[in-house]
Amino acid sequence: MIPISYNGAKGRFAAKIARLFPILDSSTPYIEPFVGTGAVTLEVLSRTKRRCMVHLNDANGELMNLWTAITWHHERFQSRLEGAIAGMVNPQPVDFIDRAVNFYLDHQKLARYKTSNVSLMVRNFEKVARLLENFQCLFTSMDAIELVKACGVYKPSGRWNGAVIYCDPPYIDTEGYDHDVDHGALAAALRAAAAQGHHVFVSLNVCEKADELYSGWRKVPIKKLAGRADRGERYEVVYTPSLRLEV
Ligand SMILES: C[S@@+](CC[C@H](N)C(=O)[O-])C[C@H]1O[C@@H](n2cnc3c(N)ncnc32)[C@H](O)[C@@H]1O
Repeated sequence: MIPISYNGAKGRFAAKIARLFPILDSSTPYIEPFVGTGAVTLEVLSRTKRRCMVHLNDANGELMNLWTAITWHHERFQSRLEGAIAGMVNPQPVDFIDRAVNFYLDHQKLARYKTSNVSLMVRNFEKVARLLENFQCLFTSMDAIELVKACGVYKPSGRWNGAVIYCDPPYIDTEGYDHDVDHGALAAALRAAAAQGHHVFVSLNVCEKADELYSGWRKVPIKKLAGRADRGERYEVVYTPSLRLEV
């Protein structure tokens, strides 16, 4: 169901990762500081019955603008996307919806797509919008570490049970994103968040540096679900200090 294809999308890892998280309820915000295409988000929210707060963030501001357009303005977004594909490819953007359309078209290189693909995409956007309208969504584009530090507002007390914070940063020692993160600083911020009572999960590639950064945390290997075009890593790891895992 993901709205856009993307480098590093969790795709065939998502179902197994989502199963690790505690059940969300109205006192448990769900926070993804590196949301990308939201493969894990959409999997988690499809399994969630209660209306909870969902905070999605990515340093890529145009990507977050696309999330906003799809979720809150999906009819306008879809009709302008269809118009752009039908003949006015890359119109001069006049507002954030045009920007979202252009970002989407540039990203997916859709000018060559046939009508059947467009209706498939439109159905996908509708599904995403219908799912997300059941939650209180907040979209931001800020540095992930700053967001993790700001999660203190949800720490367990009367109103909140602590948040589920799922981080899927760029792999350690790999390239390919316009934005990157200081993995040492991220690990420190996540340890502080866990100490406040949040449920913290972080996906990483299998490597010694990740083991060092998250030493003392549980390490859960996640095997990619098999698919026809199997490329890239077959295993990832999720680190978590949570003792309540049911894998
Ligand atoms: C591995 S991808 C996330 C993939 C996502 N789980 C999915 O299924 O599509 C990493 C994301 O982190 C974002 N990113 C990189 N550095 C960041 C930072 N310092 N703060 C926030 N986002 C960042 C990138 O723009 C990218 O979208």
